Amino acid sequence: MDQTTCIRSKVDLNSAHQINTGDPEGMFQALWNLPEQCAEAFKIATKFSQPNDYKNVHAVIISGLGGSAIGGDLLRVCVANKSTVPVIVNRDYTLPAFVGEQILVIAVSYSGNTEETLSAYAMAQKNGAKIIALTSGGKLKELAMRDGVPVVTVPGGLQPRAATSYLFIPALVIMAELGFIPTVNDEISNLITEMQGLREQYQPEMPIADNLAKQIAQKLFNKTPLIWGSCSTTEVAAIRWKGQINENSKSAAYWNNFPELNHNEIVGFEMPEALLKNLEVIILRDEADHERVKQRMEITKSIIEGKVSGITEVFSKGTSLLTRLYSLNYIGDYASIYLALLYGVNPTPVKMIDLLKNELMKIKS
Ligand code: PA5
Repeated sequence: MDQTTCIRSKVDLNSAHQINTGDPEGMFQALWNLPEQCAEAFKIATKFSQPNDYKNVHAVIISGLGGSAIGGDLLRVCVANKSTVPVIVNRDYTLPAFVGEQILVIAVSYSGNTEETLSAYAMAQKNGAKIIALTSGGKLKELAMRDGVPVVTVPGGLQPRAATSYLFIPALVIMAELGFIPTVNDEISNLITEMQGLREQYQPEMPIADNLAKQIAQKLFNKTPLIWGSCSTTEVAAIRWKGQINENSKSAAYWNNFPELNHNEIVGFEMPEALLKNLEVIILRDEADHERVKQRMEITKSIIEGKVSGITEVFSKGTSLLTRLYSLNYIGDYASIYLALLYGVNPTPVKMIDLLKNELMKIKS
């Protein structure tokens, strides 16, 4: 462990008092509650029934932004090797031109007020698509109820990024209920049990020496995190880590994936040297990574070693791809909050997102 990074922060991650004071709005509590959130999300999902003709669609589009879109990425990756229909994640005001009555659009907005999602919802309606709204309320719920569109209502009061399971598990269960993938009941039940085991390892009371999330936060402190995943597996965790470091730690962070990065990004590890020296590279690894990707990771490490500040590999844990991806997201979530504390920032507020939304509201579209 690089002790100099510890020394530069005023916060001691072994101090329960400092950790509690640094997280006044309870991000750690929200993380601790993840297994319970999964259980509740599953209960909500099983109570929801979708119209029978939704079974006939040819593709599923998850339309949302930020914390409401990441569940779509998780869905896309988790079902890729078993779904009979493609899952596409749409982060935009518009939907692709092929969207019509043969397509199911799941419009996801935790607040229910995200303008891009509302615009995509309107387009889905106009094009006659099958629609489900997944939200805690807001305008999306209002419109869906007006239009007779089925709504999955999840509990409000969280930051969208802390509500991922509420926004992901119902979509996963809907995929199974519609017959696009086999039942996921056992997988979700194992996920809950395995996450209960993991949270003990990353919780604030666990000292730095035994807490990988705290150790990672220390490595990332005052560095530019570059998170690498693998296409078809850990890519989704790389996206999640980047977003969580941005929003919780208020830090710049970037992501890419294998094998694509071997065809461009790797060439850029020559200049500018000072910037490269500040990069802390995190490689997220999973047993299901393609064998050639595993070899690529080894060669890539040897190419960038010495040019960057450091390279850390984080291995997924769990009995299914679903749990393994959750395990990577979980440690990344914890690490991003510890990093926020090292920087002395409150992990909860996202002032820049609020500012942007407020400025846009002042401008007529
Ligand atoms: O994490 C966040 O707060 C954002 O990324 C939001 O999720 C994003 O702005 C979209 O808002 P909502 O999730 O309410 O649709």
